[in-house]
Order: sequence, then C-alpha cells, then structure tokens
Amino acid sequence: MISKNSSFFFEIRQKFSGPLIMKSLEYEIEINPSKSYWSEIFRLVIEEKWFNTPNDYQIWLKGFSKEQFQLFVAIEKGTGNFIGSVTLTTHELVNGEKISCVGTFILHPEFRGQGIGLTLFNEALKHGATNKTLVAVPSMSDKYASKFGFNVIGTKIIDYYAKCSALKLSSLLTDSRLKITDPSEVGWEKIYAYDRSITGMCFRGDFLREFFSQPGAYNKVVLNENNDIVGYCNIRTGPDNILSIGPFYANSVRLFQII
Ligand SMILES: CC(C)(COP(=O)(O)OP(=O)(O)OC[C@H]1O[C@@H](n2cnc3c(N)ncnc32)[C@H](O)[C@@H]1OP(=O)(O)O)[C@@H](O)C(=O)NCCC(=O)NCCS
Repeated sequence: MISKNSSFFFEIRQKFSGPLIMKSLEYEIEINPSKSYWSEIFRLVIEEKWFNTPNDYQIWLKGFSKEQFQLFVAIEKGTGNFIGSVTLTTHELVNGEKISCVGTFILHPEFRGQGIGLTLFNEALKHGATNKTLVAVPSMSDKYASKFGFNVIGTKIIDYYAKCSALKLSSLLTDSRLKITDPSEVGWEKIYAYDRSITGMCFRGDFLREFFSQPGAYNKVVLNENNDIVGYCNIRTGPDNILSIGPFYANSVRLFQII
C-alpha cells in the first residue's frame, strides 16, 4: 500500500574529484512493503547493535492487523532500492485509550543527512493514535523532544548484559510449589488475560502467540498451586547467539528471580 502524498522529489549534490554533478532522487513511501525490505533493515539494525531477528517483520504482520502495525519504507523510484524505515504499532488499552509506539527508525547510510529521515518520520506520525511513544538512542533524544514533544515520560532505559558462561546455574532459586510449563499447556487465552492484566494492552494475543512460537524462542509460564499464572518469560536468539529476554513478567521480585 502506498500512502497519500508519498512522492517526494529533491536533489542530492554528489561531489567527485571533477565538477559538481547534480543527481536527482525520487522516492515514495510504502506501507508494509514486500518482506525482502526487511532483510536490508535487519542488516542495518544489527550494525547499530540493536536487537531484532530475521523473523520480526513476519511476526508483526501476522500478529497485528493493518490498523495496528505499519512499516513505512522510503523506496527509491525506478530502482526500488531501500532508503529508510520507521514502524508504528498501535495498542488499545483496557481503559479505552490508544497509544502508538514508534520504532525501527533507520536510514541507509548513503541517504542520511538529506532530510529524508525527518520526512519519513513526519509521514509515520500522521498515522496511529494521538499519543505516541518511542525509545531513543541518546543522540536523538533531545531532537525528538524539541521537534515532536517526546518528553512526557523521561524514563532512562538501561540495557544489561551477561555472559551465559558466567551464569551460576547452581545458585538459581527454586520453589517446589510452582509449576514451570510451556505456553501451549497453559492455553493462550489464559496467557493473554495475564498479559493484559500486566500491560493493560488489549488485542496483542495473536502477536504474543507468534512471538513465543518463532524459531529460536524459548519460553516458560509459571503457575502457582491454584493453577494461576504468576509470571512468564520469553527469550529470543538473535544474531551471533545473543539472547534477548522479554517479555518477562512476574507477580513479585522473588518470583522474578525464580523464573
Ligand atoms: C536518525 C536517522 C534515521 C535520521 O535520518 P536522516 O535522514 O539522517 O535525518 P534528516 O536528514 O532527515 O535530518 C535532518 C535533521 O533532523 C534531525 N531528525 C531527523 N529525524 C528526526 C526526528 N524523527 N526527530 C527529530 N529530529 C530528527 C536530524 O538528526 C537532523 O538534525 P541536524 O540537522 O541537527 O543534524 C539516521 O541518521 C539514521 O539512520 N541513524 C542511525 C540509526 C539511528 O540512530 N536511528 C534513530 C534511533 S532512535
């Protein structure tokens, strides 16, 4: 699908050793284009040392409706070359409000610094809910705040890393009253209900099922003696065997440690 007003035209000056050469670039913004664009986005994302997997785009498409999820891709006219991307995922909350999460904002290095990123971002912001949220790299944080007002929740997110070889499995906590089991044994409806009670997000059940079921995902759900869910954890395998933990919820800190 191609969004409205999606054709842009401008000029890039390319300076070679000889005279200045003017080269024109025309591009359009496509929404949820073919899956082949994801491999390019994924490559760039990994270069930035962010975490994604080759399956993510497919999971988003399967797990969310077109109204819930859009990948905006700037594509060079004529060649079909990838220029840049940004995603928007809209969640409806139990209180009836909606919130859209902006992500995967990245341009091919060759096209950076020419105003395309900002145009693409502005195009994406026209969609989704009025309330929007994002996680910024430090160099962009003030810019998002000053240009678009992304300054309401100033949470600082810290990434923690651990080497699996340094983990001491012998010091893990256990509790014989808990049952640690697979999501399929618990049933997805029960898992969605638990997830909703924690996140306040409705309608992300299909996404959770796809996310948990992807290749390279390891997950467990924990039940108490009453068979109530008291936590769950998902771990995904990324490039270079890096593991990413989440979503990971528990009813208490102790349960969190056990899970
Ligand atoms: C960040 C990025 C997507 C911007 O795209 P771009 O095409 O290079 O940016 P533009 O040429 O449109 O930007 C023009 C100006 O607006 C800023 N800008 C771009 N997008 C913006 C946005 N969404 N909000 C606020 N400012 C923005 C740029 O930083 C630049 O500022 P400057 O003039 O102070 O340098 C691109 O540089 C990139 O891919 N960087 C690496 C990945 C990354 O850090 N992504 C951001 C993750 S939070």
